[in-house]
Amino acid sequence: MSEKNINLIASSNNIIKGCIEIPGDKSITHRAIIISSIADGKTKINRYLDSEDTNATIDACRHIGAEIEKDNETLIIKGNNLERIQGENIEINFGNSGTSMRLMMGILSAQKFSSTLFGDQSLNQRPMNRISNPLKMMNGDIKTTNGIPPVRISPVDKIRNTDHIITIASAQIKSAIMLAGLYGQESFKITTPHSRDHTEIMLNQFGCKISTESNAIKFTPSKLTSPNKINIPGDISSAAFFIVGSIISKDSQVKIKNVGLNPLRTGFIDILKMMGANIEITDLKEINGEFVGNINVESSPLIGITIPKDLIARSIDELPLIVLAASQADGKTSLRNAEELRFKESDRILSMVKMMERFGISIDEFNDGMDIYGSDIKGNRVNSYGDHRIAMTALLASLVSDGDIIVEDAVNINTSFPEFTEIANNIGMNIKVYD
Ligand code: S3P
Repeated sequence: MSEKNINLIASSNNIIKGCIEIPGDKSITHRAIIISSIADGKTKINRYLDSEDTNATIDACRHIGAEIEKDNETLIIKGNNLERIQGENIEINFGNSGTSMRLMMGILSAQKFSSTLFGDQSLNQRPMNRISNPLKMMNGDIKTTNGIPPVRISPVDKIRNTDHIITIASAQIKSAIMLAGLYGQESFKITTPHSRDHTEIMLNQFGCKISTESNAIKFTPSKLTSPNKINIPGDISSAAFFIVGSIISKDSQVKIKNVGLNPLRTGFIDILKMMGANIEITDLKEINGEFVGNINVESSPLIGITIPKDLIARSIDELPLIVLAASQADGKTSLRNAEELRFKESDRILSMVKMMERFGISIDEFNDGMDIYGSDIKGNRVNSYGDHRIAMTALLASLVSDGDIIVEDAVNINTSFPEFTEIANNIGMNIKVYD
């Protein structure tokens, strides 16, 4: 896990041009590792994301008896066939990864050993009762520390499936419930607003039938059988940095190949198109239940808009980049109904307001979002607040700033996108370590 701090400097006003591929999708990699680890058989996971967050998931899955080998860009996992593992109390460090901790809470609550789950400074402040409360309704014996980590899980005789009504649009909550539900007997329903459905798709690849109708997921526990091979598409949330970078900087043009295009992840493309961006998707196909395609994008003038409420959950991780795009749009952009941003790796409403103010952009903060007034960005020194997406967004701002941008505490980029600086520099940016 990242310990040493790193500051980065990005020189201003470059052009980005080129054809790139992006490492595997983080959300899908987590699911492929977890579900292979509890399935019957061996699964080869191609082009997985090798990052600190996904390595935290690998580490946790080894504790439930999965055999996991790494071979270059491939993982080979022999699963435990939903065996409830016996053992001593264990402590698991999930680093920065909320997805790892929350999804694994579903599985760990069904084991025959007790566990204590904790993370880094950021993760240790994030809400876990949104997961422990529904799991307790399923007989899970879980205690948070006033709603946050450390989380202590004790073994129970059995998981008892029950219907849930979840009001937060969160893939992590519904995923933890489904994963715990695999260890119960009864069919049940989760009524919840739409959020990314990678768990449903991945479980389906392993033979578990899940049906969705409007706002309800109908789940019947079943044995999981490995499909032998899973191919992970490129991460659209990582591609998003170069999509927005290319749009806001002059004379730029980028093609990104083999990107995951799950419709519940592409809300930010819809938002950028509403703002006037020129983005084209080609060669769309389906691989292991997920849409994959190429994206062509080029410099485009943007206009400020009011972002529709129904696009918020579908673009949740890209909203910092939408704020950067809005700072380069003509007029005001209103981003509201996004209170979930306050519970990410940092309070992303506060982090973006602070960053934009340091860049000389007018911005009004609200509980659930912000209004951004487009104008010129001046180079400055900013902090990442220990948040990978805030760090990368700040570096991207150098494409339009009138001076260099220094980002303090940027080591967290390794949690989701260790190749970010290399790819950015290959297509024309100039990012270096700043001593
Ligand atoms: C994720 C779900 C989202 C997202 C996070 C990854 C996932 O969180 O913000 O980066 O892989 O399930 P929520 O479920 O809290 O919305």
